[in-house]
Amino acid sequence: MANLELLREARFGEIGVKIYEDRSDASVSVARRIANLIKQRQSESKMAVLGLATGATPVKVYEELIRLHQEEGLSFRNVISFNLDEYFPMQPDSKHSYVEFMKHNLFAHIDILPENIHIPDGTLKEEDVEKYCEEYENKIEEVGGIDFQLLGIGRTGHIGFNEPGSSADSLTRMVVLNDVTRTDAAGGFGGKENVPTKAITMGVGSVFKAKAIVLMAWGESKAEIVKHALEGEVSSNVPATFLQHAKGVEFVLDKEAAALLAAS
Ligand code: F6R
Repeated sequence: MANLELLREARFGEIGVKIYEDRSDASVSVARRIANLIKQRQSESKMAVLGLATGATPVKVYEELIRLHQEEGLSFRNVISFNLDEYFPMQPDSKHSYVEFMKHNLFAHIDILPENIHIPDGTLKEEDVEKYCEEYENKIEEVGGIDFQLLGIGRTGHIGFNEPGSSADSLTRMVVLNDVTRTDAAGGFGGKENVPTKAITMGVGSVFKAKAIVLMAWGESKAEIVKHALEGEVSSNVPATFLQHAKGVEFVLDKEAAALLAAS
């Protein structure tokens, strides 16, 4: 197994921080942690419940998980997954949907059972969303809660699509996307006007129930928000700051995303 270049470990209050030379080493380390959890659960004949994210950040983690499946026989038959969010409205076969993203970047290449995959449904009638969101929460509870939650961070400090103003105990619900978030997504949609204005997202409170949470961030463009999340005042203005009060949180960063941290 290749050695991964871990440059530094630090603690910011309750949060453990690992800083890697580059995002590739960092992603492989996170994938190995997920693989170990899955294998541990297999040895106990139990399911592993994963909370998954989309976006650019986790792509290399998924690549490594696919490699572990294809080359090292890692099976995902004991995995149940819950994705954080989906745009609303959104058809699952749209190239912009997170259903399509997850299929393309992970699920089509591994042996997870389709019935064990959960992604918020972007095709619902608005009046059905509230009940659906309650059921999403219930399903997570029924399988024993999320063992490992993967997170990225938006430039607004969102986790999932919990934009500024979200409360620490928010649960799965429909939200309005922040302008910065829609601007950041504009490229993929061929213009901001095509980015949906709403999404269904697991809440900050839903994420906090996970037994372990790993937030990943790569590159210079995330340095400021990472600093704020770890060192800033805890406030709903930057929902990621709520992680300072959660248990079992680790930030995994490359050196560019960590560049502004106090002891860097
Ligand atoms: C995606 C999600 C978002 C992203 C965040 C960062 O499921 O919940 O919070 O993690 O917007 O996006 P990227 O990784 O594209 O920088």
